[in-house]
Amino acid sequence: MTARRLDQLLSSLGYCSRRDARDWLKAGRISVAGKVASDPGLKPAAAAVRIDGEPLDHPEGLLLLLNKPLGLTCSHDLREAPLVYDLLPPRWRDRNPVVTTVGRLDKETSGLLLLTDQTDLVHRLTSPKHKVPKIYHASLDRDLPSELIPLFAAGTLQLDGEESPCAPATLRQISPRLAEVTLIEGKYHQVRRMFAAAAGLTVTALHRTAFGNLTLGDLAPGAYRELSLDSPDL
Ligand code: URA
Repeated sequence: MTARRLDQLLSSLGYCSRRDARDWLKAGRISVAGKVASDPGLKPAAAAVRIDGEPLDHPEGLLLLLNKPLGLTCSHDLREAPLVYDLLPPRWRDRNPVVTTVGRLDKETSGLLLLTDQTDLVHRLTSPKHKVPKIYHASLDRDLPSELIPLFAAGTLQLDGEESPCAPATLRQISPRLAEVTLIEGKYHQVRRMFAAAAGLTVTALHRTAFGNLTLGDLAPGAYRELSLDSPDL
């Protein structure tokens, strides 16, 4: 990462405005490599900076794996609260680049959700070109008709308002009304719309269990864990 000015660095990590950063410097709260810093234009290595003696919070970026609970929205719009971002430390909301979800889960979908401030990673993981598999468990209002398995696999299922049919998807029956669906794309409300379009079925509960090689493990609903930005699972 290219070195940034101290005032820019602190404001981009959500600590304060650039103006406040200058006041913090004047007050002697910031040190670089053990020495009190006063110049807002200094471009130090982020790892050498301390605020009130504390190292900077994730200066190289953030990648989080969250177990999204039901009822939270993947939006930054406070009018749609409660938001998934409410589960994170408040300072992370003020970071620039912003911490954002990698794709979205519906308000009434639970499970594995990635969040990051790495724009390139968001593009790579959400692009259908990269075919990252996402696995969902869908509860259905009626028994799963077996003919849906080849229909989902065929890559011909057309959803209203979409230009192209759904890419081939893997459907596995777990029990008569519980199915596992693996998608390599992420159209709006895709799983719910696929069951509705294919057989008029309603998805009564939807939970994402995996994203690429990543799974939730024993993460409780509402909890998150940090992933390394060069995680081999991505
Ligand atoms: N498909 C849906 O219908 N909803 C989600 O949240 C994710 C995939």
